[in-house]
Amino acid sequence: MKILGFESTCDETAAAVVEDGRRVLSDAIASQADMHALYGGVVPEIASRRHVEAIAALTEKALADAGCTRSDIDAVAAAYAPGLIGAVLVGLSFAKSAAWGLGVPLIPVHHIRGHIAANYLAFPELEPPFLALAISGGNTLLVDVADYTDMRILGATRDDAAGECFDKAARVLGLSYPGGKPMDELAQQSAGGVYKLPHAHVDGAPLDMSFSGLKTAVVNLAHHAEQVGGGLDRAALARDFTQAVSDTLVPRAMEAARLAGRKTIVAAGGVAANTIIRRNLERACAEQGCKLYLPPLKLCGDNGSMIAAQGYYEYQAGHTAGMELNAYATLDISE
Ligand code: KG4
Repeated sequence: MKILGFESTCDETAAAVVEDGRRVLSDAIASQADMHALYGGVVPEIASRRHVEAIAALTEKALADAGCTRSDIDAVAAAYAPGLIGAVLVGLSFAKSAAWGLGVPLIPVHHIRGHIAANYLAFPELEPPFLALAISGGNTLLVDVADYTDMRILGATRDDAAGECFDKAARVLGLSYPGGKPMDELAQQSAGGVYKLPHAHVDGAPLDMSFSGLKTAVVNLAHHAEQVGGGLDRAALARDFTQAVSDTLVPRAMEAARLAGRKTIVAAGGVAANTIIRRNLERACAEQGCKLYLPPLKLCGDNGSMIAAQGYYEYQAGHTAGMELNAYATLDISE
């Protein structure tokens, strides 16, 4: 079964063709990051307008790269939540028109379910159940994936997402948007251990997380150095910041797996590309006797193939939608 998948929840327009949820036939992506970098972050209206401009040409490219004609497509999948609402609406509306025009089923896909499914593309042997650590620009979740479409949130951030925190911290350190990758590179240049940063805990909810205090601490350190002088060891701060994010994520992921009785952990989302977090997850999984799946870097960020992959399993579960399907800025992954 060939599924044409669309992703437009933030600043990547993406269209891809995936066969039977596992084999990528094409994966066309147009990133808008350079445009948003001018403003230090995503400007929602610009994102929507860029999606409008790119999506038809990207779809043609996805079909051509896959060696497909329109009549080869068996279903259309679209990320319909969560995300920047104007951006999501562009991809969803285009996907609806495509499904309607081709006379094939329309499959709604939760964006974070898609991130988790990116791992199915890289690891043919991977099957649920497992514990997923989903860490992206807008979401930070610990998810018990009992089956391909049966998911339960065990822990979540109470405020900022891990990726958002990386982007804000990077900004005050003078790094370009999106800040995760340059922070990662800067952090490699120091052994850290210079800055004592807060590690938040949520009373009564040990698997929940909070990153806003950490973000504020980095902002305050940078502003203080700027105003009072005294210098700032940017590499050490990047390193200590990353370690603090990792200290929040990794032990909780291990504890969530233990509580859910899972021996497999799967990382997903843009922040799963982080070198130190990957290394710490590897170490913790080896210690706890868990099997770890880390997506290849190109499948960590937003893409269309992850939506088509999850779309296959949603279709198998009977989850198709009518033309009245709407887009949502927020949506629980278990719905
Ligand atoms: O999953 P993604 O591409 O988009 C969303 O679904 O949100 O994640 C983007 C986020 C950005 O915040 C970006 O800075 C972060 O992932 N990111 C990283 C790294 N590469 C991307 N964060 C830490 N280390 C990285 N190497």
